[in-house]
Amino acid sequence: MTQDISQDKKKVVLSGIRATGNLHLGNYYGALNKFVRMQDDYDCRFFIADLHALTTHPDPAMLHSNVKSILAEYLAAGLDPEKNILYVQSDVPEISEMYLLMNMHAGIGELMRTASFKDKARKALGIAPKSGEDEEEIEKEICGNQTNKSVNAGLLTYPTLMAVDILIHHADFVPVGKDQEQHLELTRRFGRRFNSFYKTDYFHEPVNFNFGSHAVKVPGLDGSGKMGKSEGNCIYLIDDEKTLRKKVMRAVTDQGPQQPNSTPTEPIQNLFTLMELVSEPSTLQHFKQAYADCSIRYGDLKKQLAEDILKVTLPIRERILDLRDNDEYLSKVVRRGAEQAREVAAKTLREVREIMGIRKF
Ligand code: TRP
Repeated sequence: MTQDISQDKKKVVLSGIRATGNLHLGNYYGALNKFVRMQDDYDCRFFIADLHALTTHPDPAMLHSNVKSILAEYLAAGLDPEKNILYVQSDVPEISEMYLLMNMHAGIGELMRTASFKDKARKALGIAPKSGEDEEEIEKEICGNQTNKSVNAGLLTYPTLMAVDILIHHADFVPVGKDQEQHLELTRRFGRRFNSFYKTDYFHEPVNFNFGSHAVKVPGLDGSGKMGKSEGNCIYLIDDEKTLRKKVMRAVTDQGPQQPNSTPTEPIQNLFTLMELVSEPSTLQHFKQAYADCSIRYGDLKKQLAEDILKVTLPIRERILDLRDNDEYLSKVVRRGAEQAREVAAKTLREVREIMGIRKF
């Protein structure tokens, strides 16, 4: 029997990070680290989402340097341009054209109900988050305010652009954090809708990818919630030793366990969760035990945590600093990546135009 060569074809993996500033430990454990682990076994394409960053109006003077830092951070964390396609989103104009085409099949209602849109719109409009449905209030505000440019159409169609990022590669796996699940669901929905509208099976359905059973959630240092740029509770890969130690020593704690064997409060559990990521299991065990028997000293916990974080981040930081100034190398990497990505993207776009009935004279 002849071997089916399609079985040897590696699955396609695609993911991207928005170019809005330096990468932090949350990006590292939630995304980058996963990317690095996937690069040998899959046909991986990773990109820097600079068009997505435009939705929140970055300073034009900063955008390029943000793209450059993320590229340096990708490479410093271990992504190998020989094994993956690494590119900048705006270097692939086919994505923008397909975004226009795909928007014809994206419903305003479903886009407005997307959690990320509601969040951003709420923030821009100064509406306090409520547990119930506040779509009506957001809609009223948006529609009633003709000049509210901060809630722009790009923000609304953010998920269309993301769907195109994924569909243009016919990606099988999209390693992203939990907060991106809804966007991934919309991607599948747009693909299905396209298929059924044009009576084709052109797109297949991409799924998230996790090592192990669940997505890693990296907590911040402020006692609650996850690490995030806008939260201001981040440890950046580029942080120097002094800054990093200071941040960790200032992390929110509590008054200490009140009785033996109590469940750690959220701020303490967060420090344990961070420790689980960076420290030896025995170190974590030691501090958990000390918490259980009320002998714990948070100063010691933090000192150890800072030490163990530094072991991860300092070597990466050194590589980032080296790479960031190597313009020649960086531009070689993205030029090659753009070429490879455009080849894939141009084929998909050609086929999509054909399916939609756009023909040349
Ligand atoms: N929306 C993603 C984020 O904020 C970034 C992103 C854009 C992305 N396009 C993508 C992630 C395509 C995965 C696949 O993190």
